[in-house]
Amino acid sequence: MDEAVASFEIRPTALDDWEALRSLRLEALLDTPAAYGAEYADVATWTPEQWYEMAASPLTFVAVANGDLVGMARGGHNDHEPPDSTARWLWGMYVTPRARGSRVAAALVDFVASWARSDGGDELCLFVARDVTRARAFYRKSGFNETGFSVTHDVHVDKVFEEMRRPL
Ligand SMILES: CC(C)(COP(=O)(O)OP(=O)(O)OC[C@H]1O[C@@H](n2cnc3c(N)ncnc32)[C@H](O)[C@@H]1OP(=O)(O)O)[C@@H](O)C(=O)NCCC(=O)NCCS
Repeated sequence: MDEAVASFEIRPTALDDWEALRSLRLEALLDTPAAYGAEYADVATWTPEQWYEMAASPLTFVAVANGDLVGMARGGHNDHEPPDSTARWLWGMYVTPRARGSRVAAALVDFVASWARSDGGDELCLFVARDVTRARAFYRKSGFNETGFSVTHDVHVDKVFEEMRRPL
C-alpha cells in the first residue's frame, strides 16, 4: 500500500466528479477485465451525459485520498429480482493498485452496507468472477459467502460470475 492513501474518505460522487470517475472506471476495465460484465471498448464510447448520470447518482461511492479517486463501488438493486426483494447489491467495485491492501476496499463495502440497511435491505449481495481470486478472497474475509448460484456472461462465455451474499 502507498502511504499516500493512509488517509482517505468515502463519499457519494457529485456531478463535478464525472471526469475523474470516467478515468477510474476505465482504469478498472483495463486493469481487471475479467472482473466485470462491462467491456472497456463499450464504456470508452460513453457520452459525457452518461458519465454525468453515473456521477450524479446518490448510489455511486468513491474513496478519495489527497483529492484523487482511489476506489469506487455502487449500490443498487438487481433487475432480475422482484421489486419487493430485501436484497441490496454491490456493483462495480474497484480499488486502484496503490490503495490495495489498505482499509479502502473494506470502507467502500461498509459504506454500501450502510446505504443498504438505510434502504431497508437485509442482505448485501454481489457477483464475483470465478477467476478473480483476489476479489473472492477479499469478499470472503469481509463476511460474504458463495450461494452456489452463478451466471455466465452473454457474450464472453468464459466469464462466470458467482453470487455471494452476507446478512446486513
Ligand atoms: C477486489 C479489490 C477491491 C479488493 O481490495 P484489496 O485492497 O485488494 O483487498 P485486500 O488486500 O484487503 O484483500 C485481498 C486478500 O486477497 C489476498 N490475495 C492477494 N492476491 C491474491 C490472489 N492472487 N489470490 C488469492 N488471494 C489473494 C490478499 O493477501 C488479501 O488477503 P489478506 O488480507 O488475508 O492477506 C481489489 O483487489 C480490486 O479492485 N481488484 C481489481 C478489481 C476487482 O477484482 N474488482 C472486484 C469486482 S467483483
